[in-house]
This record gives sequence, C-alpha cells and structure tokens, in this order.
Amino acid sequence: MKNIFILIVLSTFVFGQSFDYVGTDACKMCHKSAKKGAQYTIWADSPHANAFETLKSEASAKIAAEKGLKVPAYQAAECLICHTTGYDNSGYEVRDAKFWDEVTEKGKPTKAVKRMTGLQAVGCEACHGPGKNYKSSKVMKAIFVGTQDAKAVGFLEVNEATCVTCHNEKSPTFKDFKFADQVKLIAHPYPADVKAELMEKLKAKK
Ligand code: HEC
Ligand code: HEC
Ligand code: HEC
Ligand code: HEC
Repeated sequence: MKNIFILIVLSTFVFGQSFDYVGTDACKMCHKSAKKGAQYTIWADSPHANAFETLKSEASAKIAAEKGLKVPAYQAAECLICHTTGYDNSGYEVRDAKFWDEVTEKGKPTKAVKRMTGLQAVGCEACHGPGKNYKSSKVMKAIFVGTQDAKAVGFLEVNEATCVTCHNEKSPTFKDFKFADQVKLIAHPYPADVKAELMEKLKAKK
C-alpha cells in the first residue's frame, strides 16, 4: 500500500517535470564569459562535472562489488540516478556502443550523442531544471528581469531541497550535508556590479 502511494507521488513528480534536457554544452555558449562570472568554467572545475567519471574509479568498482551490482557502476541505475542529469526522467540513458559511435556526414558526433554526453555528470540542468523551453536568449532575459513565470518553462528555483535529492544517506559515501557551507563551495554568481548593470539595461529595453 505504502509503495503504491510512493509510486503515484513519484510519477506525478516526473510528469509535472516533463520538459526536455538539452545537456550542459547547450548552456556553455552563453554562460562562460569571464566578465559575467564564468559559470560554465566554475562548474567544469567542480566535483559535479566529474560525477560520471567517478563511477569509473576503483572506489566505485569496490562499492559496486559490495552491493553485488550486475553491471559496472557507470551503467547501474543505482548509481546513475545521482551521478548524471535527468536519469530516469527523459535525461541521461544508458546506450550501447552503436549509439556512441554515431557520427554526422562530416564525422562529428551527432546531436543526439552530444546531448547525451552533456547529460553525463551533474550538469546545469540537474539544479536549474531541464533547459529546452527556457534556453533561448529571449526567455532567459525575461526570467532574469522577472517577467516570465520561470516554473512554466521548466526553470527551477535552486535551494536546499534541490541538493538533498542527491546529498542524502542513499549515497554510499554519504557523511553529512550542510547546505549553508556546501553551497559556497559551488558558488558561481554574476559579479554584483555586472548583475545590476545587466538588470538596468534589460529593464530599459522593454
Ligand atoms: C542563448 C544564450 C543562453 C543560453 C543558451 C542559456 N542562457 Fe541562461 N541566461 C542567458 C541570458 C541572456 C541571461 C540573463 C542575464 C545575462 O545577460 O546573462 C541568462 C540567465 C540565466 C540564469 C539566471 C537567471 C536569474 O533569474 O537570475 C540562469 C540560472 C541561467 N541563465 C541558466 C542557464 C542554463 C542552465 C542554461 C542551459 C540549459 C542556459 N542558461 C542557457 C542566456 C542564455
Ligand atoms: C543530481 C544529483 C546532485 C544534486 C542535485 C546536487 N549534487 Fe552535489 N554532488 C553530487 C555528486 C554525485 C557529487 C560527487 C561528485 C564526485 O566527486 O564525483 C557531488 C559533490 C558535491 C560537492 C563536493 C563534495 C562534498 O560533498 O563536499 C559539493 C560541495 C556539492 N556537491 C554541493 C551541492 C549543492 C550545494 C547542491 C545543491 C545546490 C548539490 N550539490 C546538488 C550530486 C548532486
Ligand atoms: C542518492 C544519490 C547517490 C547515489 C544513489 C549514489 N551516489 Fe555516489 N555520491 C553522491 C553524492 C552526493 C556524493 C558526494 C558526497 C557524498 O559522498 O555523499 C557522491 C560521491 C561518490 C563517490 C566519492 C567521490 C569522491 O571522490 O569523493 C563515489 C566513489 C561514489 N559516489 C560512487 C557511487 C557508486 C558506485 C554508486 C552506486 C552504487 C553511487 N555512488 C550512488 C550521490 C549518490
Ligand atoms: C549543484 C547545483 C547547480 C549546478 C549543477 C549549477 N548551478 Fe547555477 N546556481 C546554483 C545555485 C544554488 C545558484 C544561486 C541561487 C540561484 O540564483 O538560484 C545558481 C545560480 C546561477 C546563476 C545566477 C547567478 C546570479 O548571480 O544570479 C547562473 C547564471 C547559473 N547558476 C548558471 C549555471 C550554469 C550555466 C550551470 C552549468 C554550467 C550551472 N549554473 C550549474 C546551483 C547550480
């Protein structure tokens, strides 16, 4: 009975969030300028960007063996759920070698492969929400100045509840999580003066 209840709550949650994940590369081009705070670069140097690679480490192989997993950690739902973006929610999926080898006529990875690569690790969208419906410059600016209902386009408020979906005792290596301290370690703000300037400029345009 209790399990059925949890299932219903879970599927409502997933349903309510059925916006598509585009992958971190799709955020990179607009959020890497040093002047505006280099959010992409800060993220790329953070542990979150390495979360998928971690699953290929010896430590992960050991945990997987202890848990009796039948596949390597980097292919196991038990691990991918917190070490990738949007797993089991139309985001990251385990794919076979044939998928990863797909290339365009020019020999470059296809769009689908690039998207999936951008969903490995804890990407921007793991916290800010799936980006398909908010990543255009027009929508982003409207969210920024407060004229667009962020939630309606999948853009989520990031707070402690966001973090503890992964930072909890279901993590095999969990010790504790103190939001106020941990959030400082991943901070990637706009420089305050730049933010004020951007706001003024965008509001004047309307
Ligand atoms: C086409 C360019 C573009 C892309 C792509 C883009 N953004 Fe933005 N984003 C902006 C602009 C413009 C702003 C408004 C402020 C500014 O000028 O930087 C913004 C603002 C934001 C903000 C701050 C919102 C606020 O209210 O403070 C967040 C968070 C953000 N973007 C996350 C993302 C994420 C995550 C992705 C990828 C899914 C993404 N952006 C993709 C252009 C973009
Ligand atoms: C989708 C799951 C997920 C979400 C959401 C998430 N994290 Fe993490 N976080 C991870 C994983 C996985 C690691 C370990 C990465 C590694 O070392 O490979 C990690 C590592 C960290 C680390 C470095 C290790 C540590 O514990 O000190 C900090 C700091 C951190 N996260 C802060 C946060 C904060 C703050 C939030 C919310 C704003 C957050 N995380 C949201 C999965 C997540
Ligand atoms: C509930 C979410 C969650 C699940 C499930 C999860 N992890 Fe993690 N993992 C995290 C978070 C968050 C961190 C960073 C903080 C911590 O240790 O809790 C982390 C850190 C790690 C680290 C340490 C990284 C480092 O260098 O410090 C390893 C190794 C790891 N995870 C392996 C695994 C393996 C293997 C599995 C599957 C059996 C797994 N994790 C399942 C959330 C999770
Ligand atoms: C682990 C969670 C997490 C991840 C991953 C993450 N962010 Fe954030 N982001 C936050 C938090 C927390 C804040 C501060 C509170 C807020 O503005 O919502 C923030 C704020 C921002 C802001 C606004 C800064 C400001 O001063 O107003 C931008 C822009 C942004 N993030 C872009 C990105 C981009 C681009 C990526 C990926 C390259 C990314 N974030 C990855 C949690 C995250």
